[in-house]
Amino acid sequence: MNDIKISASGVDVFYGDTHAIKNVSVEIEGNTVTAFIGPSGCGKSTFLRCLNRMNDTIDIARVTGSILLDGEDIYDAKVDPVQLRAKVGMVFQKPNPFPKSIYDNIAYGPRIHGLARNKAELDEIVEKSLRRGAIWEEVKDRLDQPGTGLSGGQQQRLCIARAIATEPEVLLMDEPCSALDPIATAQVEELIDELRQQYSVVIVTHSMQQAARVSQKTAFFHLGDLVEYGETGHIFTNPEDSRTESYITGRIG
Ligand SMILES: Nc1ncnc2c1ncn2[C@@H]1O[C@H](COP(=O)(O)OP(=O)(O)OP(=O)(O)O)[C@@H](O)[C@H]1O
Ligand SMILES: [Mg+2]
Repeated sequence: MNDIKISASGVDVFYGDTHAIKNVSVEIEGNTVTAFIGPSGCGKSTFLRCLNRMNDTIDIARVTGSILLDGEDIYDAKVDPVQLRAKVGMVFQKPNPFPKSIYDNIAYGPRIHGLARNKAELDEIVEKSLRRGAIWEEVKDRLDQPGTGLSGGQQQRLCIARAIATEPEVLLMDEPCSALDPIATAQVEELIDELRQQYSVVIVTHSMQQAARVSQKTAFFHLGDLVEYGETGHIFTNPEDSRTESYITGRIG
């Protein structure tokens, strides 16, 4: 078994009176791709956002319970959410490049976190991140053009490159391929597999095939509960809960 990277215990999330996540405990391993699956509205994105405190940005959201990253409480008052989000990066369903050049989209994080000592080092980080995001060849001759001018699939790979530019320890991805064509999807899946060598990846997906292809661990959520969590192969071939079985065989969802 790999080391435990994130340990969540007894996590509840409320949006006003809506109880979106109910007493969820889970241990996310290092060097592992973990898939969150379950029907729409079951709380996958909500729980994912707990892991880098993105729910802090939603006024009515209230998170209780404990979430440790490498044994440290990420909700501790001493933790700066901006620093935390450099360590626990996020890629959203809808590509959201900054209204800046392609170069500056990638350079932004490394600049504010002081990861480059000079222009040459920054150039190197930008190139390396774009290469790892499988988009370098398409943008290398127009780094000064706006990121928002790229196609949807290119924008998503740009956002992935941006997220990995700060060398995060954990990468959270919320349905990262839903706007991508099959070729870009395959590139992103390959990238996810490669990132696992260095990082932990948590991916929310509605595609069972994708979960089966890219993940080693799977968590099945249903109506705010974490119903089942285990080896992906086991969850897909031999689920223990009837709700998991119904979902993966297409009877609920
Ligand atoms: N910003 C918000 N304000 C109020 N309620 C919210 C908010 N975000 C989510 N919810 C509610 O929390 C519950 C879980 O939503 P969440 O978006 O986490 O589900 P999901 O599993 O990601 O669904 P999907 O597969 O459709 O993306 C739902 O009842 C939803 O209406
Ligand atoms: Mg969602």
